[in-house]
Amino acid sequence: MSNIKNYPIAPKFTQQANISELQYHQMYTHSIIEPDNFWGQQANQLISWFKPWEKVSTGDFTHMDTTWFINGKLNVCYNCIDRHLPTRANHVALLWEGNEPQQSLQLTYAELFEKICRFSNVLKKQGVQKGDRVAIYLPMIPEAVVAMLACARIGAVHSVIFGGFSSDAIKNRLLDADCKIVITASDCYRGNKIIPLKHNIDTALLECPDVKSVIVVKHTENVIEWNDHRDYWYHEEINSVSVDCPCEEMDAQDPLFILYTSGSTGKPKGILHVTGGYLTYVATTFKYIFDYHDNDIFWCTADVGWITGHSYVVYGPLCNGATSLLFEGIPNYPNPSRYWEIVDKYKVTIIYTSPTAIRALRHEGDHWVTDTNRKSLRLLGSVGEPINPDVWEWYYTVIGHEHCPIVDTWWQTETGGIMISPFPGAAILKPGAASWPFFGIKPAIIDDHGNKLPADQKGKLVITQPWPGMAKTIYNNPDRFFNAYFKDYPGYYLTGDDARCDADGYYWILGRNDDVLKVSGHRISTAEVENAILADLSVSEAAVVPIQHEIKGEAIYAFVTLKMGIKPNESLKKEIIQKVRENIGAIAAPDHIQWADALPKTRSGKIMRRLLRKIADNDLTDLGDTTTLTDPSVIDRLIRGRQM
Ligand code: PRX
Repeated sequence: MSNIKNYPIAPKFTQQANISELQYHQMYTHSIIEPDNFWGQQANQLISWFKPWEKVSTGDFTHMDTTWFINGKLNVCYNCIDRHLPTRANHVALLWEGNEPQQSLQLTYAELFEKICRFSNVLKKQGVQKGDRVAIYLPMIPEAVVAMLACARIGAVHSVIFGGFSSDAIKNRLLDADCKIVITASDCYRGNKIIPLKHNIDTALLECPDVKSVIVVKHTENVIEWNDHRDYWYHEEINSVSVDCPCEEMDAQDPLFILYTSGSTGKPKGILHVTGGYLTYVATTFKYIFDYHDNDIFWCTADVGWITGHSYVVYGPLCNGATSLLFEGIPNYPNPSRYWEIVDKYKVTIIYTSPTAIRALRHEGDHWVTDTNRKSLRLLGSVGEPINPDVWEWYYTVIGHEHCPIVDTWWQTETGGIMISPFPGAAILKPGAASWPFFGIKPAIIDDHGNKLPADQKGKLVITQPWPGMAKTIYNNPDRFFNAYFKDYPGYYLTGDDARCDADGYYWILGRNDDVLKVSGHRISTAEVENAILADLSVSEAAVVPIQHEIKGEAIYAFVTLKMGIKPNESLKKEIIQKVRENIGAIAAPDHIQWADALPKTRSGKIMRRLLRKIADNDLTDLGDTTTLTDPSVIDRLIRGRQM
């Protein structure tokens, strides 16, 4: 770490920053000592309430009963759209860039309002009521934002499913949340590849008899299968309803959305966020971390199928009345200049993207960047996985002309919004450090026994004080919520990440300490991939570990034991990878499969994953204690069998 250079607050930026270093420290202290007072102020300034709350917060982590803005009434769609109309009706709310460079569209707040009201009425016409769950499986098109906000408007709970998930993964999510309706599109292109969205839904619905209607956006001219009893065209439905749709008055505790994410066991968790706390938190973090100013053009490249898309494509920007750019395509189509051409085309001022995308674009060569102008940019963001210092420097120097601060933001699906990040214009930048806790966030680093560790020591990252953006529960499974986050270290929220805090108070995130992988920034559980591999009838056992990957950050390496009498061969490997694609989606496909006649197990039958990680990473210098293995000779055979 010692040879990493620090960067001063970027010079062009200091003139504009909303927050100075002194103000950060003052506001941070206030937020920690008097959280209710602090969050009450933010919620008053940034959110419009139909009825004020009686108390800002109650409860604690020990009892898992934290509650924010008690008895406060509001509506998220009203906050994101309606209340901006008197002053910003003609301000652009959404800019859309399609998969092809010539496809683009813009919607003002007034135009978006009308579309949302109409679609809210479509949902009502289909019988959707307050509290019902609505699944959204759409590409990055304006209708995705319309559908999310329409749900919020009428008090329905959306469950957005990432377009890369397979029919099986969709089915599991639809069943778990008991959805009665799905919003999808005919199909879409990502680069050159076609994604058969409606077909995937049709297959999933073979096992979801409770889904009574599917609303389909006609996104391409391709012909799709149609079920007259169940399917409705979006464009026909929105023209069959009125444009008037009042907002439902929601309690601050009412659910806003469910979003599935991977944990350390096989089944994805339906993380549930509620109305008042979530909106206050994303609005506040958006304003301060992205140093939002009135005429900014904000581009978060994340898909709305992930939490980053929820919080910083939709709710955070629109609640602040900002212009948010939505991009349907991929960074290297039709060529690796695409991101920067989009920046120039729309004069993007703030870009928020993932280290995977930055690494992939760096790999293509600087000329794809330097051929573009990018002078409009004033702030760069990173999210989803650690950003290596050399990649950070490339982002800072080549993309940002050395005048844009980088906000390396650490957070999680469960946290609702950004938790640790540099404050642009206020913090000295340390490449690779997530840096400072956001207002109201009090992290600590603890050892395995729960003791707090001093500066510079690596340990488990926990959060010691409630904040408004924290998820309320896991849908239909409060016990799992408690066991996953609050049980092991009472009084703390356990993040699942390792980190250290340096002597200057900067947090450095070191990666997950549970069985969760980060592949291209996507969160995937090893158990989920193992279950998918085990679905292949030839397989008797499987163990999945991460290996370092130059572009993806981590890639999936699977050790697979076949059933007696089955001979390993290349087509079997393909079949197993196909199983994972079918069960989860292409994002979880292993990069490597190594045949193993046995897996290293302790006498109590536990697979020693630590050893498998080392073998997969070819890091054989110190294998540690292997004396508890039932059969230590397994190790030598696995090392010999390692391919690559
Ligand atoms: O391991 C951390 C990593 O992503 C995990 C959360 O994943 P997910 O719920 O999918 O949310 C991703 C987008 C917020 C964390 O536990 N992570 C996220 N941001 C960073 C990060 N690791 C290092 N640095 C980050 N900036």
